[in-house]
This record gives sequence, structure tokens and C-alpha cells, in this order.
Amino acid sequence: MGECWSQRPVRLNRQACNGADPLATCTESQGDAVDAADMGADLERVLVTEEEIRLRIAELAVDIWGDYEGKDLLLVGVLKGAVMVMSDLMRALPGTAPMDWMAISSYGSGTKSSGVVRILKDLDTDITDKHVLIVEDIVDSGLTLSWIRANLESRSAASVEIVTLLRKPEAAKVEVDVKYVGFDIPNEFVVGYGLDYAEKYRNLRDVGTLAPHVYT
Ligand code: IMP
Repeated sequence: MGECWSQRPVRLNRQACNGADPLATCTESQGDAVDAADMGADLERVLVTEEEIRLRIAELAVDIWGDYEGKDLLLVGVLKGAVMVMSDLMRALPGTAPMDWMAISSYGSGTKSSGVVRILKDLDTDITDKHVLIVEDIVDSGLTLSWIRANLESRSAASVEIVTLLRKPEAAKVEVDVKYVGFDIPNEFVVGYGLDYAEKYRNLRDVGTLAPHVYT
């Protein structure tokens, strides 16, 4: 039997494009939308394009629906980074499922996870006996997700699994079993598609690495 997509995240390690403004040659502008070319020197290179994200999320949605169809599924997004993933994943699902949101703090305006997690907004939903799928933007050290998962498991959910668009395998500090992974990426700070640095760059449609001069 072939390996399924959910166990086969795409590995990306794209090199910088050629040219004086490398990002400008990587993507095409889409109307007034903000893409990598508009970010100038703040970004170093594009890691995952809007199109690659769209295709991968469509694949993940099919896998997820195959596993959860007929079950009492609840999608739980982690604010704010997972907003884009949730929005696109939900619309790619072949059927309907409710969503809820948590907000936690584990990052300030720096680029390293503190490991200290505090709930800023809890779920509105009682998850007893529900099949919870945590929707995340990125797994870096894994500290945040392992805390969230343990917290939700303690609430008598039928199951708790995780889907993340991005994962940095080299940054892992704790083992987190992530059932659905979009892309494995190098251990670099990335922004775009919901991911921010100090609340900036979330609206970038591609995912790119932030130039070190921005945060050093
Ligand atoms: P972890 O606890 O180190 O796995 O980090 C989890 C959270 O940190 C993610 O949900 C993001 O909000 C944030 N984060 C981790 N890596 C990055 C990154 O490269 N860019 C932007 N945010 C990140």
C-alpha cells in the first residue's frame, strides 16, 4: 500500500532566486494582493508559494475528510497564525465541520518560543466526546502544540490530532505526533500566510524567510 500524503510532508529547501531583488523574480503580483515582491529587503527568499500552499491544502483536506467523515469533528484553530490555514482548509473540505478558536501566548515579538503558554482565549465549545483536530500554522520547537494537545486531551475529547501547514524538524525540542503536515521546512524564521514577525507580514500570500537584519 502506498504511503499516504498525511505521512509524507513535502520537504522544501529552496535556494534564493537570481537577480538584484531575488523575491521579485520568484512570484508574480496578483492585483493589489501583497506578495513577496512587495516586501523588498525585509524578506530573504520565498520558501513556499501561494500555489504550492493551495495544492497541498487541497490534498490535506481530502486526507482529513477520509479519516473523519461521519465523525463528530471539531476544527480548533490557534490564533492568530492559523487563520489562513483554517480558512483555506475548511473551504477545501469535501463536507462541513464546525470550528472553534483558542488564543494562547507563547511568543512575544521575538523569534524563539518561550515554552511558557498562557490561554488568552479559551474554546467556546465543550469538546467532550468530540474528535478535535488542532489547526496550526507552524510547529517549531513543538512546545506550544504539546501543551495545547495535553490541555485538550484533559477535557475528555474522543481524539485530539494535529494538522499544521509547516513544520521545522530540526527545531524540535519535544516530540509531537503531528498527523497531517503540509511542508517540512528548514530551521529558519518564516513569515507570510498568517505567520508574523511583530504582527507584520501576515498578509503575504507566500511563505518566505525573514532577512536577519529585520530582527537583529
Ligand atoms: P513552538 O512552540 O516553538 O512550536 O512555536 C509555536 C508558535 O510559534 C507558532 O504557532 C507560531 O505562532 C510561532 N512561530 C514559530 N516559528 C515561527 C516562524 O518561523 N515564524 C513565525 N512564527 C513562528
